[in-house]
Amino acid sequence: MAPAAAARLPARVALIGFMGAGKSTVGRLLASRLRYAFLDLDAWIEGQRGQSIRQIFETEGEEAFRLLERDALAALASHRKVVIAAGGGAPMSEDNRAFFRDAATFYLEISFEEFLRRTAGSPDRPLRGRPLEELRALFESRLPVYRKLGVIVSSEGRTPPQVVEEILEKLKRRSRG
Ligand code: S3P
Repeated sequence: MAPAAAARLPARVALIGFMGAGKSTVGRLLASRLRYAFLDLDAWIEGQRGQSIRQIFETEGEEAFRLLERDALAALASHRKVVIAAGGGAPMSEDNRAFFRDAATFYLEISFEEFLRRTAGSPDRPLRGRPLEELRALFESRLPVYRKLGVIVSSEGRTPPQVVEEILEKLKRRSRG
């Protein structure tokens, strides 16, 4: 990115979207293109607790996890030059939304069917084992929130580098004003 555009880049870029949308893969690549740090919110929580997300869900429950997620985001609110891949549920709490409104937030969109394909047999996602209809309802209830909070970028049928290019393009346009 040209120096003038780079100077006007946002302090924080956040990626939101349902499980399997590619937030971590795209986030890591995007961060390297922007020369930003990359931070995966779930990995950060796991590092802080010394437990996997699955273990936290099993031993402390989802509500406890949501509090950890909220605290982690609050701790990041003053970080600069960072790309954050948020867990799929992070934007659902009103407490967290200011973070996403303040960052340049992109919503990586995939269909429900693509989510099922990409996360099939994924043991590290505690919610993935829920009944299909429950997952579909969760997916549909989240869509309007994701769409409202983030600039929509389709992540389906495209490679992570292609998704990154689109985000960079949108960031450039945003920095031009
Ligand atoms: C969750 C998504 C997961 C993780 C946790 C809960 C959710 O992150 O935060 O299992 O509520 O959608 P990914 O979206 O990175 O899979």
